[in-house]
Amino acid sequence: MGLFIDSSDPKEIKDLYAWGVLSGVTTNPLIIAREAPDADLAERIREILSVSHGDVSVELTTEAEGEMIEESLQYHAWDPQRITIKVPFSETGLRVLHQLVKRGIKTNVTCLMAMNQAYLAALAGATYVSLFSGRVRDMGYDVRPVIASTREILDREHLASKIIVGSMRHLMDVNEALEAGAHVPTVTPPILRKMVWNPRTIETIAEFNNAWRSRPKKR
Ligand code: E4P
Repeated sequence: MGLFIDSSDPKEIKDLYAWGVLSGVTTNPLIIAREAPDADLAERIREILSVSHGDVSVELTTEAEGEMIEESLQYHAWDPQRITIKVPFSETGLRVLHQLVKRGIKTNVTCLMAMNQAYLAALAGATYVSLFSGRVRDMGYDVRPVIASTREILDREHLASKIIVGSMRHLMDVNEALEAGAHVPTVTPPILRKMVWNPRTIETIAEFNNAWRSRPKKR
């Protein structure tokens, strides 16, 4: 389904979209607080929208149901086709999700650590369910069976939600997420750059170009 970038930095997002490999952006309050603590959220997200295409996930920061709905509608109005409301998973989160789904608003249910949570979010009609690779591993569990069993149950039950796998810490996490059945890995800019880099590729290109430059020239 594609590859998303996990960043709120419009400059990075613009540079990396130029590669033609990205189809969406995920942000969260921690990323924005780290990358742009003084930023105006609406302005930052509008900048991101202007340098990207596809869905842009913006996470709710309130915790009471009424406020979460209000916050969702505010974000949704910035671009109803592309803004995807990132709903933190909980009982309240499910109630909010259900209301957003009824209004036809795109959703990304986030902070998921287990298949049963992703299954509930998918049953409630989430557009995306986000499993957190690194944070599952921090608890000492293997995330691959979590991704694989989530994919299996979504496919078996014909549930439309797509699995995003985020919280990537290493390049191998991306490979493993894809192999286990993730629809969409979301990767940080440094991990995306590591996906390009391979010393043997660099050496090979240098060998070819050196051979061309030092070829015997006709007189
Ligand atoms: C995914 O959508 C999240 O924004 C992100 O990947 C969380 O990653 P972290 O565990 O590094 O905070």
